[in-house]
Amino acid sequence: MSLRTQSSLDVNEDDLQQISSESTKLVFEYLTTISERQVRAENHAGKTLAAIDTELSLDGRSIEQLIGECRTIMDLSRHNGHPRFFGYVASPSTPVGAYADLIASALNSNITCWRSGAAGTEIERLVVRWLGALIDYDRDAKGLLTSGGSMANMIALLIAQRRKSGVDSARVGLWNSGPPMTLYASEEVHLSIAKAADILGFGRDQVRVIACDERQRMRVDLLRQKIEADRREGLRPFCVVGSAGTVNTGAVDSLVEIADVAAEFDLWFHVDGAYGVPGSLDEGKKHLFAGLERADSVSLDPHKWLYVPVDAGCLLFHDADAARTPFHSEDADYIKTHGYADEEAFAFWDYGVELSRRFRALKVWMTLQYYGSRRIAGAISEDIALAAYLGELVSNAHDFELLAPVELSICCFRYVPHSGMSDEELDRLNERIMEIVQKGGRAYLSNATVNGKFALRACITNFRTTKADIEDTIAAMREAGELEQMNR
Ligand SMILES: Cc1ncc(COP(=O)(O)O)c(C=O)c1O
Repeated sequence: MSLRTQSSLDVNEDDLQQISSESTKLVFEYLTTISERQVRAENHAGKTLAAIDTELSLDGRSIEQLIGECRTIMDLSRHNGHPRFFGYVASPSTPVGAYADLIASALNSNITCWRSGAAGTEIERLVVRWLGALIDYDRDAKGLLTSGGSMANMIALLIAQRRKSGVDSARVGLWNSGPPMTLYASEEVHLSIAKAADILGFGRDQVRVIACDERQRMRVDLLRQKIEADRREGLRPFCVVGSAGTVNTGAVDSLVEIADVAAEFDLWFHVDGAYGVPGSLDEGKKHLFAGLERADSVSLDPHKWLYVPVDAGCLLFHDADAARTPFHSEDADYIKTHGYADEEAFAFWDYGVELSRRFRALKVWMTLQYYGSRRIAGAISEDIALAAYLGELVSNAHDFELLAPVELSICCFRYVPHSGMSDEELDRLNERIMEIVQKGGRAYLSNATVNGKFALRACITNFRTTKADIEDTIAAMREAGELEQMNR
């Protein structure tokens, strides 16, 4: 085999120009037509693979062909950035955030530590500080960007456990570290907490599920009772998780009261604000987040309500030393930062699970700087106002019923065509309405269970949504309900 004398996979300038302009054209076309599309294309399993060449090419294919197939892939996708997409917690990406991801991939810095990605590390640490200040958590917050809220929550629970375990459980294992350690969260907490408890070896049963009040907020009186009962049993409470924006209804727990209990029993206080914490940028909602600054750690996802493209979560904390304890290791030679000290020896691997890490901060930085925090806050306030408007439409309608207060930007409701229907019948009817509307492509809502009832759930974290989209969505739900009633 001959030895390479020039780059094997680089392309000439004309080809590079073509790749660049064709890709940009496609993105431009997508971003300028997204609002006119169906939210979800008519689709079935296998349709995408039937529409593209599935043979792995031996000798390569042209960029025109590939861009054409990218167009097909985009056409067959669900458009989370559509103005009437309200499912789950999925926001549109800002155009500038999307291009920032391209720049980050072209640079391909690996943000393991300052030595390996000096510029990217400094930008990430800056962005983390900004996020901490933006939500009034800590003007000098420490932390790191993660793949999302699940990863941020898992890291937080490990930090919490290690702070309290008292022995070197990193070496001896949890099974060798004394009586079971318990953590506390409301029945409305996101599933990632129980999942983390499982992955980290505490066990899902050690997540003590605390009942909620009528606004879906943790009953802090019950929290206290449960901690006391567990202590009497010889168990070791170590952490309480408050929700600042539950995934079902957007409820914000009373953070001040939970912080008091955490202080009293010496528990790590983690706040899962992956979805809801940017709601604190709205002056009218700020009061809900009182006490956030007392949390030991906070999860916040820029890829949810800060409109940054997916793969941008964040864990914030005050105490960098506590956060470093579980992850720092002297074991591996290849990660030692020989010859670097102080800020230049900083390594993200000391604070989280990942070693190789994308340059996630660039899209957060570019989105925040391009719009400025005032405009981002404005978009969040508009989402909140639109959710309240949807709540009003529902409350004033003769055939809809609001199922939970609209706390932030989530509205949970159901279609009730007449009063003679049982909850079971209404559950089935509303499930059908959701399916019909999702498949029809005019709007997209997901579901939640609220006080045992099936709820249609609209989560508005979407800077494209207008008042007319809300009205059209209600009309689509009503038409689906009427159709379903007629066909019974
Ligand atoms: C409150 C809350 N926490 C955690 C998560 C998990 O975030 P991710 O999907 O980014 O892992 C979600 C996702 O919707 C959420 O709403």
